Amino acid sequence: MKNSRIFVTKPSLPDLKDLVPYLEKIWESKIISNNGPFHKQLEDELCKFLDVPYISLVSNGTIGLIIALNTLKIKGEVITTPYSFVATAHSIMWNKVKPIFVDIDKNTLNIDPKKIEASITHKTSAIMPVHVYGNPCDVDAIESIAEKYNLKVIYDASHAFGVRCHCGSILNHGDLSVLSFHATKVFNTFEGGAIISKDEITKKRIDQLKNFGFKGEVKVDETGINGKMNEFSAALGLLQLKQINNDIKMRRNIDQQYRKNLKNIQGITCFSYSNMEKGNYSYFPIFVEDNYFLTRDQLYERLKNNGINGRRYFYPLITDFPMYKNLKNHSDKDLLVAKKVASKVICLPIYDNMKTETINFISNIISNK
Ligand SMILES: Cc1ncc(COP(=O)(O)O)c(C=O)c1O
Repeated sequence: MKNSRIFVTKPSLPDLKDLVPYLEKIWESKIISNNGPFHKQLEDELCKFLDVPYISLVSNGTIGLIIALNTLKIKGEVITTPYSFVATAHSIMWNKVKPIFVDIDKNTLNIDPKKIEASITHKTSAIMPVHVYGNPCDVDAIESIAEKYNLKVIYDASHAFGVRCHCGSILNHGDLSVLSFHATKVFNTFEGGAIISKDEITKKRIDQLKNFGFKGEVKVDETGINGKMNEFSAALGLLQLKQINNDIKMRRNIDQQYRKNLKNIQGITCFSYSNMEKGNYSYFPIFVEDNYFLTRDQLYERLKNNGINGRRYFYPLITDFPMYKNLKNHSDKDLLVAKKVASKVICLPIYDNMKTETINFISNIISNK
């Protein structure tokens, strides 16, 4: 076991032979980008699978977030979370908008709706919450704040492919939701992403923005960008859709095995999902408490020395990176929960087809003194 490293995840890929007919079609048609047939088919199939009205495929989740903010013409300030991947805040900065960081809830690890109102100013135009680890945000509370102050809501749903909460698909909340189909995500298209919208006009605007701003053949009336998904990624997505339910089922079993193995270890707690009718088990976060016999970083190193690459998602906090620290628009004492969580988290390896033997090996490294 020590000779082969265990990464935090392994991309799920279909049999190569199943991809070949798709590649042959691409070679025949010579259409490799620009809204080709696989691209159209994947948008249709994803709408059905995810139970959402409109979807626009993009080349990655970061571009998706940048385009989503641009679509809604977001200006001034956007309220978001420090406990996320740095792309969440970067997308705000790329729109020349100021991110305002609000602390997270200690149970959900998502932005704490009770703390949002205190950060709203006359410049606030939107909230960008993240469904961290695919755990649904308190969408009802966030929506009522947004309504009260007339703010837009763009969910960074990069982790939330296929997640359902009390009222159906989590992706139907807010004005827009953005998915990432990066290799580390439960559903990958090599690289890729998607923006979920609620009406045809908004979808059209997104599709225009992701294609340089073109409206028709010769008219460009928006400063768009190149955010298009190519046909290879779309073809892979179509194949991935055939196996996604099975992949999620396998991940769920792994999640359960970890929980059983780690349940009685003093000082180790596993993350509890809340308000989730259907999860995707993309991550397996554990928290190293003060009464564990090692510090979080000692455990992280111990895992590493045994060939196990856990990841401290999300450490450092976004607000600890220089471009956000220097903004000086938040004080560290306002982000105490996020700081604490970032200091004790480790995401353990999880991927479909992970063997029980591997789960037990990792669990034993954690439990053995
Ligand atoms: C929360 C979050 N937001 C945004 C992104 C960016 O997505 P992508 O890598 O597809 O650009 C990621 C993952 O990579 C993420 O985890």
